Amino acid sequence: MPHLPLALKSKLHELQRDLGKSSIIKAHEKLSERYRKGRGTASKTSKDEAIAYALARLPATYAALRYVLCELKKYSEAFETVLDFGAGPGTSIWAFQEIFHIKSFTLVEKNLAMLDLGKQFLFDRPWVHWHKEDLRLLNINAHDLVLMSYSLGEFKEHEQNSLLQKAWTVTNKAFVIVEPGTPKGYQNIMRARDFLIKSGAHILAPCPHNKICPLSGKDWCHFSITLSRTEAHRSLKGGSLMMEDEKFSYLIAVKEAVSSSKSRVIKSPIRRSGHVIVDFCTQDGIKRSTFSKKDPIYRQARALSWGDEFDQ
Ligand SMILES: C[S@@+](CC[C@H](N)C(=O)[O-])C[C@H]1O[C@@H](n2cnc3c(N)ncnc32)[C@H](O)[C@@H]1O
Repeated sequence: MPHLPLALKSKLHELQRDLGKSSIIKAHEKLSERYRKGRGTASKTSKDEAIAYALARLPATYAALRYVLCELKKYSEAFETVLDFGAGPGTSIWAFQEIFHIKSFTLVEKNLAMLDLGKQFLFDRPWVHWHKEDLRLLNINAHDLVLMSYSLGEFKEHEQNSLLQKAWTVTNKAFVIVEPGTPKGYQNIMRARDFLIKSGAHILAPCPHNKICPLSGKDWCHFSITLSRTEAHRSLKGGSLMMEDEKFSYLIAVKEAVSSSKSRVIKSPIRRSGHVIVDFCTQDGIKRSTFSKKDPIYRQARALSWGDEFDQ
């Protein structure tokens, strides 16, 4: 289970103390209300709402992104320059710092309150470059890795393709997209996947192939990460739960062809006494396999978790 970096935890604690519980709750309600109403409200986020975002959502988006970057690291660590589209308060820096050695980090964010909060998080360092800009108007040079973490869904469908085109054009090696693990988030990922494959991308993860997604009906491809809640997080969510599950969908597209895994676990395996049932996405479609104790790979199968790769 990922824990927040200590420095981040103490920054969040300071923010909570300075703003006070009732202002945080009010700001969180406003922010949630705007998100419920729809997209295109990025420029309106106030200072208090940016803090509420950092307290209520950043821990979860950090955990999801960290998970995805760990998947990417299995294939390559050769990323020196990163470009973050819709960086918010710089969530990605915390995740990247733990996983890759980045020489130059460029964050593009339209909202001043989010950007200022990011800078306040000690990210006004020589290797960190903040751009206060609307992504739709952005003109920027290429970077090894381009990221859209919980930002693609902020754009209307008809705007998403031109944004993806822009992001893919300035990607040297890998383009990473993370979205909420909802049917809507998955649809955004699917549209991006189609677009990128048509633009010559190779899908590194989570799909073990570049073919049409075999999921249909009520199923949507998503994954889950458990994270511990901070005190501020708990009081904002109005509950006493110490943990929460963040559901997310993601895509890693790369410029150079890679040999991807044979299959990926797409649901939580069902463990019974003496056997385990696992749902895989494979190069030949969706496959449900049952592994019993007699199976030579039973131990390996039993240890599988939702999201794992498996070469069977
Ligand atoms: C849900 S937040 C995600 C923040 C961060 N990437 C994370 O994972 O925590 C989406 C961010 O995209 C930014 N955004 C939305 N539309 C934008 C635009 N047109 N140009 C630049 N940033 C934008 C918003 O201001 C917001 O900070």
